[in-house]
Amino acid sequence: MKAEALEVLKNRRSVRKFKAEQVSEEALAAVLEAGVYAPTGAGTQGVKIVVVQDPEYLAQVKAMNARVMGKTGVDPYYGAPTVILVFATAASITPVQDGSAVTTNIVNAAYAAGLGSCWINRPKQMFESEEGKELLKKWGIEEELTGVASVALGYADGPQPEPKPRKADYVVRV
Ligand SMILES: Cc1cc2nc3c(=O)[nH]c(=O)nc-3n(C[C@H](O)[C@H](O)[C@H](O)COP(=O)(O)O)c2cc1C
Repeated sequence: MKAEALEVLKNRRSVRKFKAEQVSEEALAAVLEAGVYAPTGAGTQGVKIVVVQDPEYLAQVKAMNARVMGKTGVDPYYGAPTVILVFATAASITPVQDGSAVTTNIVNAAYAAGLGSCWINRPKQMFESEEGKELLKKWGIEEELTGVASVALGYADGPQPEPKPRKADYVVRV
């Protein structure tokens, strides 16, 4: 059994405080590689991953998410220096599942690579907006995309959070 992989899957936690330091290219590459090797329904690879690090785009994405949340002025990405946006493409026949599989690989790989991460909701509404569509065009992405998930990524500023106890009836064996 690959004990180290199981350790990662069990001990990854959502991180909600980040250092300002940008993530290393090496760690980011490992995270993205894990993302693109996630399973997708019928193997369509119908997912697009966008990495946002440019300070202006980062601020815009954070503000868009905050607006959907109805809390302007807060950073829904907790100060993370990198935001990863995960979209489903028109090729996907199981868009939410595909995007979620990719995002799960990303957050687990982040922990394995020594980074902190937090899955952040609301990209669907963010990129249904005119502003979101314009932003995709600015990034040179012309195809139709549906926002599925996003990830705050950076170096954790603080101790590794503890998991909540698991409920007793999580698993049924028959
Ligand atoms: C679909 C999904 C959406 C989430 N959205 C947010 C979010 O918008 N903001 C946030 O702080 N955490 C978000 N999380 C993180 C969860 O709150 C977190 O995974 C959960 O509390 C369990 O903690 P753990 O990740 O440390 O195990 C999301 C997680 C998932 C799977």
